[in-house]
Amino acid sequence: MSYSRPAADRMPDPSALVIFGASGDLTRRKLVPAIWHLDQQGRLPPEFVLVGVARSDMDDAGFRQQMREALHEFVGQLDDRQVDFFLDRLFYVCGDPKEAATHQRLKERLAQLDVQRRTRGNYCFYCSVPPQVYLKIVERLGQVGLHQEGGEGKGWSRIIVEKPFGHDLETAVELNRSLHRVFAEHQIYRIDHYLGKETVQNILVFRLANSIFEPLWNRRYIDHVQITAAETVGVEHRAGYYDQSGALRDMIQNHLLQVLCVIAMEPPSSFDADSVRTEKLKVLKAIHPLSVGQVDQHAVRGQYRAGQLGDQEVRGYLDEPDVALRSRTETFAALQLTIDNWRWQGVPFYVRTGKRLKRRASAVTLQFRQPPHLIFSSDEDLQPSTLTIRIQPEEGISLTFNGKIPGPDVKLGPVKMDFDYATTFGGRSPEAYETLILDCLLGDATLYSSSDWIERSWELLMPVLEAWGASSATRVPSYPAGSWGPKEADQLFDREWRRWAEL
Ligand SMILES: NC(=O)c1ccc[n+]([C@@H]2O[C@H](COP(=O)([O-])OP(=O)(O)OC[C@H]3O[C@@H](n4cnc5c(N)ncnc54)[C@H](OP(=O)(O)O)[C@@H]3O)[C@@H](O)[C@H]2O)c1
Repeated sequence: MSYSRPAADRMPDPSALVIFGASGDLTRRKLVPAIWHLDQQGRLPPEFVLVGVARSDMDDAGFRQQMREALHEFVGQLDDRQVDFFLDRLFYVCGDPKEAATHQRLKERLAQLDVQRRTRGNYCFYCSVPPQVYLKIVERLGQVGLHQEGGEGKGWSRIIVEKPFGHDLETAVELNRSLHRVFAEHQIYRIDHYLGKETVQNILVFRLANSIFEPLWNRRYIDHVQITAAETVGVEHRAGYYDQSGALRDMIQNHLLQVLCVIAMEPPSSFDADSVRTEKLKVLKAIHPLSVGQVDQHAVRGQYRAGQLGDQEVRGYLDEPDVALRSRTETFAALQLTIDNWRWQGVPFYVRTGKRLKRRASAVTLQFRQPPHLIFSSDEDLQPSTLTIRIQPEEGISLTFNGKIPGPDVKLGPVKMDFDYATTFGGRSPEAYETLILDCLLGDATLYSSSDWIERSWELLMPVLEAWGASSATRVPSYPAGSWGPKEADQLFDREWRRWAEL
C-alpha cells in the first residue's frame, strides 16, 4: 500500500531542471541526491536533464565529478556504472546568475538540449542561491524570455524559490511582486521542505482517510495542541545568515505555521493545490493577531549559553564564530496562538523551536480533555490522553491513554499504542526534496506555499518581531545548551495541567 501523493504513477514531462547555485551546499547535500533517488525509482523520464549554473569555474566534466563525490558522500557506496549513467544527464553553465550574459548562454544551452536530449522546452528553475540573488535571477530570466510558456518550441516554465521567503512582511510582499512581474502565480513554487516530509503529509491521511479521529478533532475533545521542532545542533556554519534571522523567522514563520495549518485546517473538498491551500490560508486568517503590547504574554524567546549536550561541552551562542558581539538574536522561540473559529475556539496552540536543545525531535502533540467525571480513585494525578505525531527523527504516531495496571486494585497508569514508519513499512522513506521536486516537475503545487499564505504568516509575526526588535525590549533570556529552553517558556501555559510535552 502506498502513502505517496496521488501523483505516484504519473511521470513528469521531458524537462530540464536548472539549479542556480549548483556549486553550493544544498545542491550537493539534498538536491542532487534527491534527483538520484527519483531516477533510481524510475520516476524521471529518459528525456530529463539537470543543468547546474554557478560562478565556480567548472565545465560539464568538473561538475559531474563534484556531483559524483556528493553522491558517494550523501547517498552511500554506489555502483560506478549506474553513477556514470546518471551523471551523463548533468550539464553545467559557468557564470554569475545575476548577469544577463549567463542567462543568454543558459538559454542557448537549453535550446541545444531540447534538440539533443528532447527536453521539449519544459524548464524548471531552482533558486538555490542566497536570498539576495533571487530577484536578479527572476529579472534576468524574464529578460531572455525563459519564463514564457506555450508557443513555438516552448513548453512550461516553473520556478522554485528556496526559503527564506523574505525577511519580514515588506520584503516578502516585494519578493512576491517582483516574481509576479515575470512569472504567473501558477508558475511559482515556494518551497517549504517540512511539507514534503512523509509524516506531515500523513497528518492529512490520518485525519481524513479514517473516520475515527476527525470527530474528536475539535474544541470538545482537545484541550490544547503543541508543535515542537527541537534541534541539538547550534548554528554550525550558518551563523552569518542565522544571526540576521533567528528562530522565529527561520522555523516558525514557515515550517511550524505550515504544520499548524495542516493540523487545524478544515477538510478540503479534494486533495489538489487550490483546495488545500485555500483551507490552510483560512487557518492563518483565523489566528487571533497579537498586538505589540500582548507579545510578552504570548511569546517567549531565548538564546543558548554554554552547556553540556550528552557527553560534549558546547559553547554558547555568543561565542560562535560570525555571531555579532552582544547579539540579541533568539535561538529559541515559543508562541501561544489561538484560532478564532468554531472548531478551535478556546484551544491554545503552543509552538516552540530551538537550537542546542536536549534532544532532536519534531512532533505535534494533541492533548485530550480529561473525562468530565472520574469514577476511579487514583493515588496520582490522572495523565491526560495524548496523540503524538512524530515528524523527525523516527517518524510515527502514538496514542497514550489510561489503562488498568494489572492487580487486585483498580490502579490507573498510562499505556501506549505506537505506529512507527520504519517498522511498519520498512525501507527508506523518501526525502522531502524528492517529493517536492517531483511534484514541481508534475505541476502539482499542493505542497508549496501560496503568495497570500506567505504574506499572512509574516503579517501575524510582525508584532512579535517589532516587540523583540525594539530598543526598549527586555533582555533575551538565556538557557543552557542541552536543556529544553528558557524556563520563561513554561509561563505560556495558563492552566496548571498544561505543560510542555516530554519528547
Ligand atoms: N543548505 C541548506 O541546508 C538549506 C536549507 C534550507 C534552505 N536553504 C536555502 O537554499 C539556498 C541555497 O543554500 P546553500 O546552503 O546551498 O547556499 P550557499 O552554499 O551559500 O550558496 C549556493 C551557491 O550560490 C552561489 N552564490 C553565493 N553567493 C552568490 C552571489 N552573491 N551571487 C551569485 N551567486 C552566489 C555560490 O556559487 P558560486 O560561488 O559558484 O557562484 C554558492 O555555491 C539559500 O537560499 C538557503 O537559504 C538551504
